[in-house]
Amino acid sequence: MISRSQEILQKAQKGGYAVGAFNTNNLEITQAIIEAAEELKAPVIIQTTPSAIEYAGLEEIYTIVWTAIVNSKIPAVLHLDHGKDYEIVKRAIDIGYPSVMIDASILNFEENVHLVQRVVAYAHQHGVAVESEIGAIGLGEEGVREGSTLYTDPAQAAEFVRLTKVDSLGVSIGNAHGAPAREKINIELLKKIKSKVDIPLVLHGCSGLSVTDLHQAIKNGICKINIDTNIRKASIDAMREELKQNPNDYRAVLGEVKEKVKGVVKRYIKILGSDSKG
Ligand code: G3H
Ligand code: ZN
Repeated sequence: MISRSQEILQKAQKGGYAVGAFNTNNLEITQAIIEAAEELKAPVIIQTTPSAIEYAGLEEIYTIVWTAIVNSKIPAVLHLDHGKDYEIVKRAIDIGYPSVMIDASILNFEENVHLVQRVVAYAHQHGVAVESEIGAIGLGEEGVREGSTLYTDPAQAAEFVRLTKVDSLGVSIGNAHGAPAREKINIELLKKIKSKVDIPLVLHGCSGLSVTDLHQAIKNGICKINIDTNIRKASIDAMREELKQNPNDYRAVLGEVKEKVKGVVKRYIKILGSDSKG
């Protein structure tokens, strides 16, 4: 069922668990995410990056995910992940995304604030929630190196939220996209951010984090956990395996991808504690 990100994230914040936000590019991954969430009665966020939109087409991917959400039995939200500029965010809002991220964390503070304020004005006018990020995580979307890590400064984060009125905030505390080795998050820094910022906090780049780190992050204020790389890995592994058994049947191959991704999503839902919360 259609839900609002503020609603499910604020509920998670109060309940001391996190909502899983899983990336999709196509029909099978979308179905896997929804079915996993339904089987565990969990609220869920299904997100598409600009590169997913480029791959599938905006109208096509929107229709696939939106239809799955409308027909689902659990609270689910379609979210634009890592919108890089005003134009892509506006396109997503105009077609019907109820939740967007503007990721201007690569810009300096003033430019970041300015762009986010512009996005928030348009989004809120249309009843759309906005996630943004302050500080920059070292590896960008899909693990591509974009620049050096800039840890979130707690006072600056508070000022950013005050100036922009964003609905949720991504933090940089040692997390990085693409499950790099030795990824380690700074829980003390997260505690300081949490003491100054009361909106839901978001953690990107979670595929490489241990269960202990995920639990610590949630205990200290993170209520949205983003997972992409482990979905990609499970998909590729499933394709390789199934191609050996069924080299001429792409439905069998994609069906196996769906099953394996469903397993990954269910595992995370249980780790995040969002099962039975939907
Ligand atoms: O925005 C998406 C996430 O931050 C995914 O990070 O690829 O490390 O799971 P990940
Ligand atoms: Zn991310």
